[in-house]
Order: sequence, then structure tokens, then C-alpha cells
Amino acid sequence: MASTAADRRTLEVPADPNALAPGVWPASAHRDDEGRLVVGGVDAQALAARFGTPLYVLDEGEVRERAARTRAAFERAAASIGTDVTIYYAGKAFLSTAIVRWVAEEGLAVDVCSGGELAIALAAGADPARLGFHGNNKSEDEIRAAVEAGVGALVIDSEIEIERVAAAAARAGRVQRVRLRVNSGVHASTHDFLATAHEDQKFGVTLARAVELGERIRSHPSLEFLGLHCHIGSQIFDAAGFAESAERLLAEHAALAATGPVPELNLGGGFGIAYVAGDDPAPIERIATGIAEAVAVGCRERGIAVPKLAFEPGRSIVGPAGVTLYTVGTVKPVPTDEGWRHYVSVDGGMSDNARFALYGADYSARLASRVSDAPAALVRIAGKHCEAGDIVVDREYLPHDVAPGELVAVAATGAYCWSLASNYNHVPRPPVVAVRGGEARLIVRGETIADLLARDVGAEAIAPEGIAE
Ligand SMILES: Cc1ncc(COP(=O)(O)O)c(C=O)c1O
Repeated sequence: MASTAADRRTLEVPADPNALAPGVWPASAHRDDEGRLVVGGVDAQALAARFGTPLYVLDEGEVRERAARTRAAFERAAASIGTDVTIYYAGKAFLSTAIVRWVAEEGLAVDVCSGGELAIALAAGADPARLGFHGNNKSEDEIRAAVEAGVGALVIDSEIEIERVAAAAARAGRVQRVRLRVNSGVHASTHDFLATAHEDQKFGVTLARAVELGERIRSHPSLEFLGLHCHIGSQIFDAAGFAESAERLLAEHAALAATGPVPELNLGGGFGIAYVAGDDPAPIERIATGIAEAVAVGCRERGIAVPKLAFEPGRSIVGPAGVTLYTVGTVKPVPTDEGWRHYVSVDGGMSDNARFALYGADYSARLASRVSDAPAALVRIAGKHCEAGDIVVDREYLPHDVAPGELVAVAATGAYCWSLASNYNHVPRPPVVAVRGGEARLIVRGETIADLLARDVGAEAIAPEGIAE
């Protein structure tokens, strides 16, 4: 997978270690006259002073623009092959009531995958009919809650779940619309995809059983079969893997279409973004067109109607809209085989961004409080946790004079950072602030030490003064 530290062994010394690489930072990001980073019209120094650090900053305009552009691209592509499309925002990337409202206003449906995510979407006032519900092990309570809420499409992930969902829908006196998640055997990541005959993973059912299980779904009067669903991976830079997956799915779709209606085909999410300069995902318009063409060809060859399409992007909507601000605590030069590396330790780490620890994911960082004429130095931005692997940015060049007390910003942290955050070392999770048009607005408050103590039923003493806020 690109955007990993291993891929950046060849990281070049930048001509300007203050420069904001286009595509990596939100489109609104720039430096003001003082050299401070500005996002959504608000400068990083002001944000840090008002909300503290670490701080997740989400550019609302960027989220909305990406949602609208994605919808427009797929609607145009779908119309060109005589069909329609629904774009579900995959809430697992980042979910709060604010983003549910933003994407709904931009015409997107929302995909959730737990009772908690469902509760957030409903609390935002989302139309239940515009929600999808995923998960390989939904509890009976989650299924009941989704059915009773009137969720528009529930994705059945296993044979066992057919009976569970059918029973829950019958009890609720409803007909539940469902998709069947299958494994197409295509695994895609960035430029490449791998196509295998068998799957060894927890999600979905094997493609060979799609027809049998689709018919089983149809046999339940409390279920309405919408069609097949497949998600081939994440951080995918072009249409080829989706096209191969669609081709495989359409063979089973056609077999099911011979015996009953199959109105839809859901090809999942996974569109890639640029985390570092040099990451080069194809424009979403090209991806949409490439997939639509593959679907049209597959349907034509089989003599079947083109189904309505659905997609579930998460990262590509919210990832590039996020920037995390940290305050530098210590700077430590360490001799390595490659020369000197400066460990820049910040006031967050793997608890607010687990992606390096989980996947070796790579990121870009810049000094946010000023620009500097100092030459570039190789740095590793480390967190404050008790793990040697607590790294936020493995390799980056920052001005050599980066110093304690200064602000550092990490780009493209909108997806899978806040949603994967933890309380490791009892570090409270940071707030999320939305910026737009020069205004900053808290959308998720940060945790406090008092929050942490409140959950510990044995806690007696109050928090030491000065750290409870
Ligand atoms: C079923 C499903 N749909 C959509 C997504 C969203 O993927 P991405 O955020 O890469 O677009 C995921 C991510 O894991 C997923 O599992």
C-alpha cells in the first residue's frame, strides 16, 4: 500500500520545508502574512489558543465540496449508462452529528456499522430511509434497532443473519430492504489489485453462494432483496479493481436477475487520497466513469438491465479535510545510520492517530505557527505515549529550528483518526473543531480527566488541580 513509511525511504529533501503540497492539505490551507497556517479562514495559532492542543480541525467547506463533487461525478457517470446512483458517506471514517448534516445537505446517504453509529446518525436527524447498516456481527439488538428505525438498506453479511434479520423484520411488522455482502475475490490497494478465487476473511459470503443465499433472502416475505454488495479495499487510486469486481459480481447478479428483481448493485467505498506529496489518486470523475463503463459492458454482455448503483466512500470525503494541530514538547537529535534524525515529540500521538501504529501509514507535517528560513532537517514526529511505536509521522522534513512550544500540523487526518482514537495512557481524546469562512465551531468537545474518572467506579479522589479541565 502506498503512503506507508516504507514507501518513503526515498523521501527527498524539499526545496521549501514550509510549503503546503497541493492535494495533501485542504484547498483552503495557506500561510498568512505572519507565516501562520490558515485553514477554513482561521489561523492555527488562534485555534490552538482557543481550543488547546492536540486539536482535530475539520474544514467544513472541503467536506461539503468533496461530497458534492463525488455525488456529481457518479450521477453523471450513472446517467451516461442509463441508471441512477446513491452515494453513502461511510461514517466509520469520521462520524458526528455535524458531518451527518453536512453530507445529507450535499445529497449523500449515510452508511453506519454499529448501534452507536446508528444513534449518532439518527440524533443528527438523518432520514432513516437514507441510511445503510453494515457489520459482520450485528447484535440482535442492533438489528432490531435498525429495523425499527426504518433503516433503508441493511447489508446481510452471513447466512445466519438472513434468518435474524427476517425474524426481526417480521416481529416489527416490516419488510426490510437488504443487500447481500459477497467477496468478489478482488483485493485492491492503491495502484494494484489482486484477484483470487477464494476469500479468507471475515466479511461477507463467498461469491459462489450468492445466488443460493439471494434466493434464500427472497423466500422471506419480511425481506426485500436489493442486490449484491462488495467492498474491495481502501486507498484505491484508480477504477481497475472496481471494474474487475463489478465484472465478477454481475455474473451472479445476472443469474439472480433471471429469477426475480435485482434493482441495485453496491460496489462499496475505498477511493484513495493523497497523504504525502507524490500520492496521485485519479480524479473521482475518472474513477466514476471507469466503473460505470465496466458495469455497462458487463450488463450488455449478459443482456440484463443496468441496475441502480451505490457506493460508500468515507476517506475520500473527509480525510483531506482534516488537519491535526499539536504542540511540540521536546526536540531530540538522535544519530542514525542515515545521519541525524530529530525526534519531535508532540502532546498527542497514537491515541489520536493510530494509523502509523496500525498500518505504518505515512503523513505530511508542517510547522503551523510560523515559517522558517532554516534548512530542512529529517524529523520523526513522535507522540507522548509509552510505546516506542508511538509515531505520528515517521519521516518528514521540517525547518531545522523547530522548537518546543511551537505548533505542528499534520495533514489529511480527517479519516480514521478521531474514529480510531483511544484513551491509551488515560490521555483524554481531543476535541473536533469545524472551520469555515473564518469561523471556528466546536463540533465534538474534548474529553477531560473528569470524564475518565467518571467511568471508574472505584475513583474516590478528585483529579489533581490543573489537569482536570
Ligand atoms: C463496507 C465498507 N464500505 C465502505 C468503507 C469505506 O472505505 P473508505 O473510507 O476507504 O472509502 C469501508 C471501510 O472499511 C467498508 O468496510
